[in-house]
Amino acid sequence: MESKPLLRMANISKQFPGVRALDNVDFEVYPGEILGLVGENGAGKSTLIKILSGVYSRDAGTIWLDDTPIEPRSPQHTQELGISTIYQELALIPHLSVGENIFLNREPLRLPAMGMVDFRKMHREAERILHSLGTEVAGRTPVKNLTVAAQQMVEIAKAVSQKARIILMDEPTSALSSREVDALFGMMHQLKGQGIPVVFISHRLEEILEVVDRIIVMRDGHRVGTLSRDEATEEKIIRLMVGRKVGLFPKQDAEITEPVLEVRNLSSNNGVRNVSFTLHKGEIVGLAGLVGAGRTEVARAICGIDRVIGGEIRIDGKRVHIHSPADAVRHGIGWIPEDRKQHGLLLRMTVAQNTTMAILRRISNALALMNTKEEKALTTHYVNTLSIATPSVNQIVNNLSGGNQQKVVLAKWLSSNPKILIMDEPTRGIDVGAKAEFHALMSHLARQGLAILMISSEMPEIIGMSDRVIVLCQGRVTGEFKRDSMTQEAIMTCATQFVKLDAFADSITAS
Ligand SMILES: Nc1ncnc2c1ncn2[C@@H]1O[C@H](COP(=O)(O)OP(=O)(O)OP(=O)(O)O)[C@@H](O)[C@H]1O
Ligand SMILES: [Mg+2]
Repeated sequence: MESKPLLRMANISKQFPGVRALDNVDFEVYPGEILGLVGENGAGKSTLIKILSGVYSRDAGTIWLDDTPIEPRSPQHTQELGISTIYQELALIPHLSVGENIFLNREPLRLPAMGMVDFRKMHREAERILHSLGTEVAGRTPVKNLTVAAQQMVEIAKAVSQKARIILMDEPTSALSSREVDALFGMMHQLKGQGIPVVFISHRLEEILEVVDRIIVMRDGHRVGTLSRDEATEEKIIRLMVGRKVGLFPKQDAEITEPVLEVRNLSSNNGVRNVSFTLHKGEIVGLAGLVGAGRTEVARAICGIDRVIGGEIRIDGKRVHIHSPADAVRHGIGWIPEDRKQHGLLLRMTVAQNTTMAILRRISNALALMNTKEEKALTTHYVNTLSIATPSVNQIVNNLSGGNQQKVVLAKWLSSNPKILIMDEPTRGIDVGAKAEFHALMSHLARQGLAILMISSEMPEIIGMSDRVIVLCQGRVTGEFKRDSMTQEAIMTCATQFVKLDAFADSITAS
């Protein structure tokens, strides 16, 4: 490690109403390193990054770039200083091309006097930068035609073209497939090779261990430890993060009884093909597959979001026709969506309002006035049982950390007393400690007779929590395993059943 940091933050503090998000935190980034920033939900990681990138102002502390004190005033200003942030909500302009996005407002000109853009040069230059980062995307492609992963790469290329000296990434991998994660890691290594350090936040510790040179651990607004890559192990990181040992995958046996949900030859207008499976009371069924295998689409068809074009759905033995999410709720189906920001929560409303959203009718009186006392009691119950970290039930959900927002989504569905709970990537963005709690809770709910369908891209989670796993590939069921016979290899073989041919086709068209 070089001895002098490129960037240094000292004694950074930040107070929000009721929450001390950062308390005297020191932070440093060395040239050309990949630095992992880890910590539980609400530990203060994003707040630190937002202070550095000029989104939030700090209450106290000093920041130096190259020994010169800096005052990040706004994201724009910070970027001019050479600190670029790749946001989770991507900031590109969809209908413009890759090149236009990278060189927005800095387009190379052909006839400068007349302001004519040299498109050829712009696209060529865009491709050159992307290539130097180890990726091939045509400069003319409209950004809206790219996957989220490719858009992220374009954002990184844009940062590089703006002479970024440090790149900050707050949970960039949370929406990527494993192949895309590999490509992103490749890009991080290229940046490192160019001497540009990357700060990388992730809750997936195996990713952290795979790619970083050094790890800074935060807990409750403090920096609690630093580990070099060599000394770091998953267990050490967890102990620093959580302050105790965490037992992973606390699945308990539950009594699995009668079928609750039977799906027969289900096909939808959104790619589901002839899917059949049964979910029993007390059972946790994992739905595995690669990104794009049709797992979310199965859930959408069951919940009445996509149109069913063939087959049938039975609940408690009776055939049902579900035409909308409201129908699904009436039939006792709860649904924790993948994208909680878009579908799960009203971010401007409070924890209590969100928790009781699905059961408004039950706790409103004849005049349709909300019974606030009951709302508060019910919400307090879930805040306690799910350990939702919030200063009060009246906190605006947008102010909670990501993992705690996820718990509010769960509270919302549990309060509606479902028979069937469908969870799409339920622990994405949740820290290890909360994840173990969440898994214990799932197990507990199953023991009480809830039937759970869990979609997950994390193989350890699928294997650790499912009584049975159904594997999908290209909208079809390609395998089914019981708890005693599921292995990662067996699941992957089924998950890639039709994929190998496609990959082969890709490889020949690419060369
Ligand atoms: N704008 C805000 N208003 C009020 N409180 C906030 C605001 N932003 C963050 N907080 C609080 O500050 C604390 C730190 O939040 P932060 O988002 O930095 O956590 P994090 O480490 O990024 O967590 P996660 O892993 O869940 O993303 C949390 O308690 C959060 O609720
Ligand atoms: Mg965060």
